Amino acid sequence: MKIAAISPSRAHLEEIGRGLEAHGHAVSLFEGGKSRMREITERMQPDLVLVEGMCCDTAELAQVEYVTTHHPSVAVILLCSTHTPEFLINSMRAGVREVLPSPVTTPALEAAVSRVAAKLAGSPARKLGKILAFMPCKGGAGATFLATNLGWQLAETKSVLLIDLNLQFGDALSFVHDGKAASTLADVAKDISRLDASLLAAATVRVTPNYSILAAPEDLAHAMGVKPEHIDAILSLAVTQYDFVVLDIGRSLDTIAIKALDRAWRIFPVLQSALPDLRNAGKLLEAFKSLGYPHEKTELIINRFDKGSDIGIEEVQRSLGSVRLNTVPNSYREVNASINHGDPLTRTARGNTVARHLADFAQTLSPRPDENRAGGGLLDRLFRRA
Ligand SMILES: Nc1ncnc2c1ncn2[C@@H]1O[C@H](COP(=O)(O)OP(=O)(O)OP(=O)(O)O)[C@@H](O)[C@H]1O
Ligand SMILES: [Mg+2]
Repeated sequence: MKIAAISPSRAHLEEIGRGLEAHGHAVSLFEGGKSRMREITERMQPDLVLVEGMCCDTAELAQVEYVTTHHPSVAVILLCSTHTPEFLINSMRAGVREVLPSPVTTPALEAAVSRVAAKLAGSPARKLGKILAFMPCKGGAGATFLATNLGWQLAETKSVLLIDLNLQFGDALSFVHDGKAASTLADVAKDISRLDASLLAAATVRVTPNYSILAAPEDLAHAMGVKPEHIDAILSLAVTQYDFVVLDIGRSLDTIAIKALDRAWRIFPVLQSALPDLRNAGKLLEAFKSLGYPHEKTELIINRFDKGSDIGIEEVQRSLGSVRLNTVPNSYREVNASINHGDPLTRTARGNTVARHLADFAQTLSPRPDENRAGGGLLDRLFRRA
């Protein structure tokens, strides 16, 4: 197992290292206390963190809880030279696996480490969810409609969380749900030190058993409280809880949007076939390049695509180069009716051409096992991919 050991005592660290390495573990030693847990966990991604110190100050457990919440696959064992009963109870609540006396004997430590290893072997780590980011190249291009309705489609077979990152004017929830959100992204940001899976789930609106939405803040004042580090923490947790995390990102490429885009598996800039959209798409692609995003991370969606339009696939490619492209047809009446009813298009008009495109789109992102074989041929038929 990959183990990080943290202790203020160099002598103890060396003894721990010798004992565990003799049992075949890879051990890294760090001088310090609980305040170093987060940084070391994020840098090393160990299977287990051992932290030695006094165990009296329950306030220190916030640092432990951060690690157990944000890195649920990392086990934590505390080695306590002194401790209070209150600390012991709270450390279990904070997700600590075991509390051992310090200095610890090698047999006691090895026995505890073996228990963690056995648990690890028995429960394969859950695959992390994929983040899909939708962003309009120009206002009204259709990013929110596509993100919310694609989320609905994906949720037919997977668990999906949509986060409305259009902080100031977000309205994603209203596209697929007719109720109001009891809490929003701003409430989660305000309570970020207590963030865990249950707090996140409680802040979302459960649109269907598999589809949850974390709504945008109610007003501009609340939106100001949301910071990039909150988005980072929420996304780190969300990917451990959902198969897909769909982001509806507003139009500005600010620090919050970049934080979210950095974490995305795929970015879908949405445009219509018009010159201003094309110009903005070009700017976005340039920005993504300078942010170091790999080429295949981005896939443009030309929404409301009409074959007869002046700006077709070839013009888009001539203007933007060899970017991945996808098209969604125009269906003004049905799409508008769906949005106005706050009901996904699949429910209001299942056979509609846009609804069918979205179902196929979801299928390419999350193929059902028996349909994998169709592969590229299916893709090519469903989307006029360039
Ligand atoms: N495929 C489509 N066919 C017809 N109309 C569509 C389609 N997609 C979106 N629309 C229309 O475009 C409007 C704007 O869509 P949406 O709100 O999703 O855009 P957006 O990119 O999120 O814009 P904003 O910049 O306001 O966030 C919708 O109200 C709907 O009427
Ligand atoms: Mg929008």
